[in-house]
Amino acid sequence: MTILVTGGAGFIGSNFVLDWLRGSDEPVVNLDALTYAGNLENLASLDGDARHVFVRGDIGDRALVDTLLAEHRPRAVVHFAAESHVDRSIHGPGEFIRTNVNGTYTLLEAARGFWSTLPEAVRAQFRFHHVSTDEVYGSLAPDAPAFTETHPFEPNSPYSASKAASDHLVRAWHHTYGLPVLTTNCSNNYGPFHFPEKLIPLLIVNALAGKPLPVYGDGRQVRDWLYVGDHCSAIRTVLERGRPGETYNVGGWNEKPNIEIVHTVCALLDELRPDPAGPHARLITHVKDRPGHDRRYAIDARKIERELGWRPAETFETGIRKTVAWYLDHADWVARVQSGAYRDWLQRHYGETA
Ligand code: NAD
Ligand code: DAU
Repeated sequence: MTILVTGGAGFIGSNFVLDWLRGSDEPVVNLDALTYAGNLENLASLDGDARHVFVRGDIGDRALVDTLLAEHRPRAVVHFAAESHVDRSIHGPGEFIRTNVNGTYTLLEAARGFWSTLPEAVRAQFRFHHVSTDEVYGSLAPDAPAFTETHPFEPNSPYSASKAASDHLVRAWHHTYGLPVLTTNCSNNYGPFHFPEKLIPLLIVNALAGKPLPVYGDGRQVRDWLYVGDHCSAIRTVLERGRPGETYNVGGWNEKPNIEIVHTVCALLDELRPDPAGPHARLITHVKDRPGHDRRYAIDARKIERELGWRPAETFETGIRKTVAWYLDHADWVARVQSGAYRDWLQRHYGETA
């Protein structure tokens, strides 16, 4: 038995592949285009491990996906590959449509073609697991109940609109063709191998360099934070026991305003790596808000707990401490991901404050 993972060199995908092979000998075929966000160094501990087959390629390449399915005959596809950064989707939405919408369509069609040729008993066991986001549900008022799986889709950014479109395609491939799909809609992840364009790793990396900590607008936007290892365990659980055609919300029960996250990271760094120049919070800089910035996300994760018995293992306090410690212990990884292309992005997006 084998699984095909897409986007397994990115942040969550690489954590998933590492976790999977820590707990199982079932091989993983990892299809990843290695965009700016893909990093094989995340998987360096698997060098020489025959259970991990890495293939550099695009999910939109139908011939390649067909060949991989025919050759490896996976029992499941776990689909992480995406353009994932909201700010980049505002600067350039085209890639988000190409990968998240067209790429998911191509993958679904390839999976359907493969699945339809399987013997009856194997067909029933096949799964297409689509990894999606809470952002498809849009923004919540401060006192509104958290998103359930039946909340209407109201995506507000090019990123979330492209993910919502992909969720709709996945749903339709189940209803129309019977493809056994599973969808998880997860809140904000954080943890090891998180590319420092996203809030938490950007804060850590900038603080260590004595650079400004950019807070969009008033910093009162609320996100629900989940340690990446918990997201991986949720996906494993849904893949194993989820009901085909169902969607499951995944969250950490950790709603926090951004400004609180910033202060928590500063306080941890003050404790673990004090800066002789003064408390890290001195670097907090309020900058122009993100256009169309969603005010609040909150996940109601009761369905996955009730039906499948999954709950996060980490609290925010344990997860963020592990995360800051990981970045302090992996200065080489941090230095290498801050390549020229990364610096160009900072300059383009943050300008003077980069
Ligand atoms: P990421 O940007 O870190 O990684 C994406 C990976 O996909 C990279 O390795 C990249 O090379 C690869 N990729 C991009 N385009 C590709 C293509 N056309 N063909 C093949 N590979 C391609 O993303 P992430 O944060 O790890 O997110 C993974 C998935 O989880 C995404 O689908 C995202 O929407 C979803 N998600 C992310 C979060 C989060 O907080 N990061 C939360 C919920 C859901
Ligand atoms: O909710 C799940 C989503 O979480 C995933 O689907 C996305 O792939 C992932 O990128 C993440 O999206 P966000 O936009 O919430 O994450 P980001 O880290 O970019 O920003 C988190 C919050 O912090 C958001 O309110 C914007 C704010 N922010 C972000 C950056 C990069 C800042 O205030 N300053 C910054 O410099």
